[in-house]
Amino acid sequence: MAMGKTFSSVSFIFLLYLLASESLPADAAVKRYQFDIQVKNVSRLCHAKPIVTVNGMFPGPTIYAREGDRVLINVTNHAQYNMSIHWHGLKQFRNGWADGLAYITQCPIQSGHTYTYDFNVTGQRGTLWWHAHIFWLRATVYGAIVLMPKQGTPFPFPQPYRENNIILGEWWNNDVEEIVKQGNKLGLPPNTSDAHTINGKPGPLFPCSEKRRTRKDLSLLRIINAALNDELFFAVAGHNMTVVEIDAVYTKPFTTQAILIAPGQTTNVLIQANQAPGRYFMAARPFMDAPLTVDNKTVTAILQYKGIPNTVLPVLPQLPLPNDTAFALSYNAKLRSLNSPLYPTNVPLKVDRHLFYTIGLGINQCATCLNGTQLTASLNNITFVMPRTGLLQAHYFNIKGVFTTDFPDRPPKPFNYTGAPLTANLGTTLGTRLSKISFNSTVELVLQDTNLLTVESHPFHLHGYNFFIVGTGIGNYDPAKDPAKYNLVDPPERNTVGVPTGGWTAIRFRADNPGVWFMHCHLELHTGWGLKTAFVVENGKGPNLSILPPPKDLSPC
Ligand code: C2O
Repeated sequence: MAMGKTFSSVSFIFLLYLLASESLPADAAVKRYQFDIQVKNVSRLCHAKPIVTVNGMFPGPTIYAREGDRVLINVTNHAQYNMSIHWHGLKQFRNGWADGLAYITQCPIQSGHTYTYDFNVTGQRGTLWWHAHIFWLRATVYGAIVLMPKQGTPFPFPQPYRENNIILGEWWNNDVEEIVKQGNKLGLPPNTSDAHTINGKPGPLFPCSEKRRTRKDLSLLRIINAALNDELFFAVAGHNMTVVEIDAVYTKPFTTQAILIAPGQTTNVLIQANQAPGRYFMAARPFMDAPLTVDNKTVTAILQYKGIPNTVLPVLPQLPLPNDTAFALSYNAKLRSLNSPLYPTNVPLKVDRHLFYTIGLGINQCATCLNGTQLTASLNNITFVMPRTGLLQAHYFNIKGVFTTDFPDRPPKPFNYTGAPLTANLGTTLGTRLSKISFNSTVELVLQDTNLLTVESHPFHLHGYNFFIVGTGIGNYDPAKDPAKYNLVDPPERNTVGVPTGGWTAIRFRADNPGVWFMHCHLELHTGWGLKTAFVVENGKGPNLSILPPPKDLSPC
């Protein structure tokens, strides 16, 4: 009897502790979603094919949450592919277990199994997105995340009457995984996509498309670039857009005819329907200022004023030319954080750790490839090799032999990075090498594009953090001169940044989120070629500064 009593009071205390540790602010809620990964037949451009979807939807369902909410997403995999889903841009404080990267933060969810992503939305509001994070499955497995501000907190811009998600993507008529296998066999890039899409559709300029209609007054467009390999320009005929937020961070509003958005990025714009009532195309097509092949097709959707018949021909917007570097640079230069008392820009002013990473492409020998060679990519001359055990598991449980923490802080040999094209690999090596970062230290990372094979713009994405883009330029980064030109007042804060073609970008962040955090080029082609690495951010000292214990359904690889 006494035993039983002791036991029950112990478990009561334990229960109280659990309740306390999971308690949320009074106005916060728990949002639950069920994601069933399933194959569905879908037809675009008159080609039907089975695609992997969430709940049979393409694009997948939108996740709605408020700042402060806890979100539980139960993912059940009914498809033949092992899978994981990443919540792109969510900071996942101490909670890499919910980051959803196959072989980085978890082992993929096996066919027939379930994994629950459990995370809090803290200090973020705006548009983010989710996507599959294994192979090229994100070609069809993606959707929007809409984070509303706390109840009663207005936007720092005029309240729109309505809002729409505009998710830009790519469509292939054939099975994407097969196309990628084909490319790998040749050691070459796989075929480019057959069309771009807006909310999963190529639009009325292509055969077999249904028409889309949108009616608007002051609207908020939540634009997401879910394309695999293409940076895109987006514009609406006859209407300017006011940019108010990027990657779920408010910006100083500015008006523009077109936006530039790289894979992984999101942009919220306000658009006022104040033009002659009619039908207007919104359109997107790639930005590519290097001599490389892309799918250059334009995707459209129609913005239609109320009461206008469908027979009126829509007007096409003026998009910047595909190689309009000047537009790209000047557009990015206009992006500034809001930096208001309510939404301050906490850019680190002092740097503890300086990192300099070169981005390189190259050609390797490949005995199994049809041409005997294969294209590859590297950071500081290291081509990242995917591990077979989740890196976060290996780190947390101290499993040896999965990765090393000797990723170099700078390239092995300095050279003229953006001079004449180089074809040599400069001794590129393979490895699962990570960089170890002390808790709460401030990091400056300069990403330098190189002319190894070709210069190209690379959208780099860091997991677990936002960073501040303090500087950028064309040519070689100059540590003696360039820091003087940094913006340390209101630099844009994002999770993905386009490193300019033949140029560099300097980012800063405070390493206050312990865990293993992946960083990679968000062009799927380059991720696959090894343009990636990860940071191991050590635990802090104190009760709430180390990695949370893993969830119970975490499975070994
Ligand atoms: Cu949007 Cu590592 O991904």
